[in-house]
Amino acid sequence: MSLAPLRALGTMEELPKDYLDNLFATNLYPLWPSLRAVLPPHKPTAKTLPTLWEYQDVRPLLMKAGELTPMEKAERRVLVLSNPGHGLANMQATPVMYLGLQLIMPGELAPNHRHTPNAVRIIVEGEGAFTGVNGERCPMERGDLILTPSGRWHEHGHDGKSPVTWLDVLDLPLILGLEASYLEEGHDVKSAPLPASTSQYSAAGLAPAPLFERVQNTHPLIRFPWARTKAGLQQLAAADPGIKAVQMAYVNPENGADCFPTISFSAIMLRPGETLNIPERSPAAVFHIVEGSGSVEIRGQKFDWKEADTFCSPGFSTISLKNASATAPAYMIVADESPVHKKLGLYEVRN
Ligand SMILES: [Fe+2]
Repeated sequence: MSLAPLRALGTMEELPKDYLDNLFATNLYPLWPSLRAVLPPHKPTAKTLPTLWEYQDVRPLLMKAGELTPMEKAERRVLVLSNPGHGLANMQATPVMYLGLQLIMPGELAPNHRHTPNAVRIIVEGEGAFTGVNGERCPMERGDLILTPSGRWHEHGHDGKSPVTWLDVLDLPLILGLEASYLEEGHDVKSAPLPASTSQYSAAGLAPAPLFERVQNTHPLIRFPWARTKAGLQQLAAADPGIKAVQMAYVNPENGADCFPTISFSAIMLRPGETLNIPERSPAAVFHIVEGSGSVEIRGQKFDWKEADTFCSPGFSTISLKNASATAPAYMIVADESPVHKKLGLYEVRN
């Protein structure tokens, strides 16, 4: 497709200073000098830069935070994976997503609270910690994905012996932009071992229905254990060797919808030696490596990744994922902003 060049528009410099001063004093601003910036031709301008955070770089700094700042002074001890394209202090990885690596030490309790942004925890390291979500006690094991949806009380505790870390994925930048972000604090009550949603939804295609009543709950399943996800991916790969990607979505088991209205989550298994080319899609995405090693090319930038690393891609990027191993699969969890794009009618797949 040949695209006609756009005409050059007037600039701020062409306008008389006293005229501009009068505009500003009246809380006015001329559109035409900025029109091309807010409505660029053919493709959005992304502030989001392809960025890799290597866990081996983050981990010592996170452990140091554990020495420097007690839980009472942190509430949540987190180092935010900030995208330099947005400015580090803005604490966002992509337009919609905030990422943080959180540390909890043995015996600590990150107190109960709730807030309007949705959050997911992807467990990176350690054993013995738990997240309580509205009283449901969710063990935190490597690779698990745990939802703490908007408005649900949640706390994190640790009965184990070594540090536990996890990746937080929140829709905080979007909710902040909507001026709808706030928090409430609750009582420091350790979660009681109430019935686990993981047990209620233990088999695919089966949902609890006591006396023929189905669950009326926007988030019926809170914890997605990694062992189950990994087994599902392996079975999918074995059942359909020709499948174009071994990828499974984390969904609401009652209705098949995305877990959150803003961010969708899925897991990918890269088969041994596989290169997976993801087409250019409008939403930004985040990838967290659960197992394996390989490389990724995003907008011509190449990164090597391995277990526990995290990287992000701006929207409208072609992404090529390569498994470095010819003998072992690699596994990753993907978060992407497609629910927002679909609801707003912005979702595009090109080429
Ligand atoms: Fe929280």
